[in-house]
Amino acid sequence: MIEVLNTPLFLTWEVTNRCNLRCKVCYNASTDMHPSEINESEASFIIDAIADCKPIFVNLTGGEPFLRPDIVKIAKRFIDKGTDPQLATNGSVYNEEMFLQMKSIGVKSIQVSFDGFEAAHDAIRGSGSFKRALKTLKFLIDNGFSAKVGTIVTRLNYLDIAEFTKYFYELGIKKLGVFRFVPTGRGRENQSLQLDADDLVWLQEKLEQLESRYGIAFFKCDHSLAVFLGKKKNAGGCELGLKCLCIKPNGDVLGCPFFPVVLGNVRETSLVKIWQDSPILKEIREDIRPERLLGKCVNCPNGIKEKCRGGCKALAYETTGSIRQPDPRCWR
Ligand SMILES: C[S@@+](CC[C@H](N)C(=O)[O-])C[C@H]1O[C@@H](n2cnc3c(N)ncnc32)[C@H](O)[C@@H]1O
Ligand code: SF4
Ligand code: SF4
Repeated sequence: MIEVLNTPLFLTWEVTNRCNLRCKVCYNASTDMHPSEINESEASFIIDAIADCKPIFVNLTGGEPFLRPDIVKIAKRFIDKGTDPQLATNGSVYNEEMFLQMKSIGVKSIQVSFDGFEAAHDAIRGSGSFKRALKTLKFLIDNGFSAKVGTIVTRLNYLDIAEFTKYFYELGIKKLGVFRFVPTGRGRENQSLQLDADDLVWLQEKLEQLESRYGIAFFKCDHSLAVFLGKKKNAGGCELGLKCLCIKPNGDVLGCPFFPVVLGNVRETSLVKIWQDSPILKEIREDIRPERLLGKCVNCPNGIKEKCRGGCKALAYETTGSIRQPDPRCWR
């Protein structure tokens, strides 16, 4: 039985499509502003729509959120509504005044992306981007933010994960987001950077060791692997349709940042209504029932498939066109 919540718990708002970098992995293939981007006068309405969902986590991302001139105002309105937003940045827009304004209005959490040490990171994000991100991260730590590092694991960086964790732990990081590379957007041209199933199992074991060694909290968008390895009793699978929604820069609403099917637009329909009434979401919720899964999932042992639900739906959809098919990197 799949339990559906009244409202989503996790909301991502991509506040702009504009970006100063052209990362090889970017699922959004971000470049310039979207021609129909939610503007400053509409932002309050969107913030209220998000706050109405009473989410436990709001992520302001992009594109590069620090390129949006009204980003401090946006963050402040969230805080005034009692929602503490996290900002996700590439760290390449170094603006001390803006960071300090964020601090003064009460923003606590900023995530800076590092896709490995300097050689790997710059190969993906462009020359000089590691040094700029490091300068930003150090400034944030020195100014009392709960700074977090987000890293996409690829063939270029995964073997360095132990030194990488140690390095950022020693800088003062308490939270490390380790994200699987979903090769959509510009990532489609760089599929060879993906890890295969055995690498993912190796990585999962390594992260478990590092977690207990450094007491660092890892956030992994790979819950299903933890389920499969029996490591985390409370781990669940992919959250598409069950816990999250994403608002794109033009107000389109997706089930997850990586899943490209538009459920509606927040300019026209409330988020709560989309969540409760979208026929596409209803279909997704049917299709993730264990008895609806196809391919090798059919014979997956009971106890695993109820929790795993076929792995990452965005990857299954990208490769097969159906969320009922297994994640192509299923480790089983
Ligand atoms: C799209 S970025 C926007 C925020 C900011 N520009 C940055 O790079 O951190 C938001 C998050 O998505 C991650 N990301 C981008 N492309 C991805 C992909 N293909 N697979 C998994 N994560 C991805 C980034 O590393 C970052 O943590
Ligand atoms: S991953 Fe972030 S920094 Fe890189 S191009 Fe996309 S939005 Fe820009
Ligand atoms: S076979 Fe399907 S349900 Fe089983 S672990 Fe693989 S993706 Fe998950």
